[in-house]
Amino acid sequence: MGHIMQTHAHDTPEQTAFLEEAAHLLGPRGLTRDPELIEPWLTDWRGHYTGAALALASPASTEDVSALVRLCARHGIAIVPQGGNSGMCGGATPDASGQQVILSLRRMNAIRALDAEAMQITCDAGVVLQTLHEAVAAQGLRFPLTLGGKGSATVGGLISTNAGGTQVLRHGTMRAQVLGLEAVLADGSRFDALAPLKKDNRGFDLKQLLIGSEGTLGIVTAATLRLAPALGGRAVLWAGVASLQQARALLLHCEARAGTAMEGFEIIPAYSLAAVLHHLPGSRAPLDTEHVWHVLIELAAPLGAADALPAQAEDLLTSAFAAGLIENATIAASESQAEAFWLLRESISAAERARGPAVQHDISVAVERMPAFIDFVMPEVEARFPGTRAIAYGHLGDGNVHLHILAPAGAVPGEWQQTTGKKISALIYDCVVAWDGSISAEHGIGQAKLAELARLTDPVRLHMMQAVKKALDPSNLLNPGKLVPLAPVRSTP
Ligand code: LAC
Ligand code: ZN
Repeated sequence: MGHIMQTHAHDTPEQTAFLEEAAHLLGPRGLTRDPELIEPWLTDWRGHYTGAALALASPASTEDVSALVRLCARHGIAIVPQGGNSGMCGGATPDASGQQVILSLRRMNAIRALDAEAMQITCDAGVVLQTLHEAVAAQGLRFPLTLGGKGSATVGGLISTNAGGTQVLRHGTMRAQVLGLEAVLADGSRFDALAPLKKDNRGFDLKQLLIGSEGTLGIVTAATLRLAPALGGRAVLWAGVASLQQARALLLHCEARAGTAMEGFEIIPAYSLAAVLHHLPGSRAPLDTEHVWHVLIELAAPLGAADALPAQAEDLLTSAFAAGLIENATIAASESQAEAFWLLRESISAAERARGPAVQHDISVAVERMPAFIDFVMPEVEARFPGTRAIAYGHLGDGNVHLHILAPAGAVPGEWQQTTGKKISALIYDCVVAWDGSISAEHGIGQAKLAELARLTDPVRLHMMQAVKKALDPSNLLNPGKLVPLAPVRSTP
């Protein structure tokens, strides 16, 4: 064998055999055990989970992913697929055993085909969202899904977690953007469904099964994505409102008046805005007045229809003001100011991460019930857990907010999340379920919510998930310990 793989005294003979064959298959760029190279990929973005890895594999092609997965299957090695490592639920972080291989898709970053006429792009799983945005913009097109982690999130990771972001209100989640998909299954076979068809009634929509499956059913290696016409322009508005009910009334107002031009509707509490302003050097608040809640609204129009946008935005604010829906508002005067408004919104997570211990909940309830839900649950948590502070921000327009509970002063990071934090989460998730909502709106389950999914999901649903997992990955080698609770939960009907 041409490549020398560093061995460790505690490697089992099976691991040694696997590593030798994998090194031979992937070469030095494709497989490493160098702790320095592996270290950045062992901890999740939020810093909640740190694992260990047998090796970091970075195959350069779908063929290599297939061959590697076959090798893993033969030697019983578990695989943790990973894209940009900016997930929110520890779904791409290996466990602490040191026996799992991280399979990074980052080296697979080619754009395979861009069909401007059909408005479709086919690209490898490792293409970074920002790169995708730029590549299609250069062809006069647009990939509308966007989120704060766009500089690191990959197409494969976005698909595996069915990511959402800030334009879901108009364009849907990742599920709605995927027209075709290629994936490597647990036995190394390639599932090729890249070619999009408008009509295809051959039974199960298997690609949809893989979307949002967090690498537990297969490893997404490429996708064909739907594109939209280039933006002719956008109007970005920032408003101050007195309550969430008022924000909701403003949403209805905007939807009625701006119709399909409405692309985004985000809420930002005063606390989060202050945290972001503190975190981002040189940033400025869009309004010089104080408000309990802020709303970021985006109106967008395709080429040829953008001229009407400024007047439409003006009209929206004037009428909202007259109806008593907003306290103050402004319209971004330039594209760079629009960017600056969005940067404030997209930096909330990073700003909060820098501030100390918190427990985060990515939840949804019916859009129309969200204000009442938040108004109910925030004081409930703060009353039951004295010293905590509840913060809600995000995608009010699609019924998904991020409900973060900040620890009281003096709480010990790590320990607090594991003890009080868990109790808080259980309370919040119980409320979400009582309101017919979801304990994961757009971040997935990963390892963070596995136990709560097992506790709170309908046994019939869990049984179906387990049956699918067992059928497609009988040896449980694809991202074990993520998304699918393995304990038997089916009660007798
Ligand atoms: C956001 C991430 C946390 O909306 O989903 O900022
Ligand atoms: Zn979000």
